[in-house]
Amino acid sequence: MSVGQSESDTNLTSRRARWQAARLDAETRAMLAKDTRHFLRQSVSTPCLNVIGRAEGIHIWDGQGRRYMDFHGNNVHHIGYGHPRVKAAITRAMDELPFAPRRYTCERSIQLAEKLGKIAPGRLSKCLFTTGGSDAVEVAVRLARAATGRFKTLSFWDAFHGAGTGASALSGEMLFRSGPAAPMVAGAEHVAPFACYACAYGYKTDANGNPPLELCNTACARMVDYVLAREGDVACVVAEPARAVPYIPPPGFWAIVREACHKRGALLIFDEIPTGLGKTGRMFASEHDGVEPDILVVGKALGGGILPIAAVIARENLDVAQDWAFGHYTHEKNPVTAAAALETIAVIEEEGLVENAARVGHVALERMAAMKAKHACIGDVRGRGLLLGLELVTNRESREPAGDLAEAVLYRALDAGLSFKTTMGNVLTLTPPLTVTESQMLEALDIIDAALGAEHST
Ligand SMILES: Cc1ncc(COP(=O)(O)O)c(C=O)c1O
Repeated sequence: MSVGQSESDTNLTSRRARWQAARLDAETRAMLAKDTRHFLRQSVSTPCLNVIGRAEGIHIWDGQGRRYMDFHGNNVHHIGYGHPRVKAAITRAMDELPFAPRRYTCERSIQLAEKLGKIAPGRLSKCLFTTGGSDAVEVAVRLARAATGRFKTLSFWDAFHGAGTGASALSGEMLFRSGPAAPMVAGAEHVAPFACYACAYGYKTDANGNPPLELCNTACARMVDYVLAREGDVACVVAEPARAVPYIPPPGFWAIVREACHKRGALLIFDEIPTGLGKTGRMFASEHDGVEPDILVVGKALGGGILPIAAVIARENLDVAQDWAFGHYTHEKNPVTAAAALETIAVIEEEGLVENAARVGHVALERMAAMKAKHACIGDVRGRGLLLGLELVTNRESREPAGDLAEAVLYRALDAGLSFKTTMGNVLTLTPPLTVTESQMLEALDIIDAALGAEHST
């Protein structure tokens, strides 16, 4: 059986093998072989592309000392790798109190919960912490179940919400929900996502990427209401407010879904694990749409790109599951990860990184539009803040994905010192740290521009 792979670039293509044969020295190849020997292989993970030796600021260095601007970073590196303030905060926290065993609380965890309640939108204020995002998504769903007395969920095809059994049931790609992940959790319903350039309902965006709202009437949002009404007993809608592909919601999408949840008695959970803490040029991506979720999930960058921590932030009146242990994790009140998160948020606020993301992202989108005018293979450019994508197609009319070209561009970019991820096979996804400067952003786009030009001249 062929398993559709779209979340990331593929790790078994002949292009990758050729690039590795040409670029990696014997020592690196030996280390990759050792990695394959000792780790269970899995799609989009192992075997690995290369060995990393160092990570600092917006850069990573491979085992051979070559430096790359990291425009992927799993979205953990908002403040750049190895921020000195976060390293110092972690050291201090370890010296003061290395761990909080269950039944004890500690000052740093309380401070973090209080801080997240302050920066989260609207009335969201009560928290639980987990080690990873997948766990936090599952905690959010369990809370929604406790609060509504219902157990079904509604999420989007093509989404990814984590590798756990519950989180992967919410995910919408074969790679994560079939094979060993099946059978799925009962009641995990799905609906087609917003994806205006590749609309599941067949509507076409105009040359500027705008959806034909007068024609489509935001069918993708109305289908959420339809399914909620037909099922009648859905506990929650779980979604990324801006999809990490990226896809940006059409205007009005979230207002319609918010209203549908309200009408049908479902809670709205926003998974802001990649987008939260400033990626889209606002502290939370949902702020662009003026819609407040009932529960918000953050993770990834929360640990400053050093330690793993994620958080669930809920409305106070959803604090109704005290009789259940629905987020009973060993590192629930870890003072060291909490210290890393507190310092990370302080860095984001004090260094004006959300504003920087908005400003540099704006410059990038303008430059990407100019690239689209120049290269016929760029079908669409889109993004918000530093969540950016260039979608490559073989033909602008048919919008056929140009996956092989995307991969070729990736390897050319790596040769020129830029690392990024391809998503859905043909979207060059750029998610640099929030610390990226305008000139670094333009340098990265120059690299992609040159790679596209070189591919067309070969
Ligand atoms: C939208 C989204 N949700 C959840 C997760 C899972 O987070 P973690 O890998 O920390 O479990 C991810 C990770 O990539 C993600 O992108």
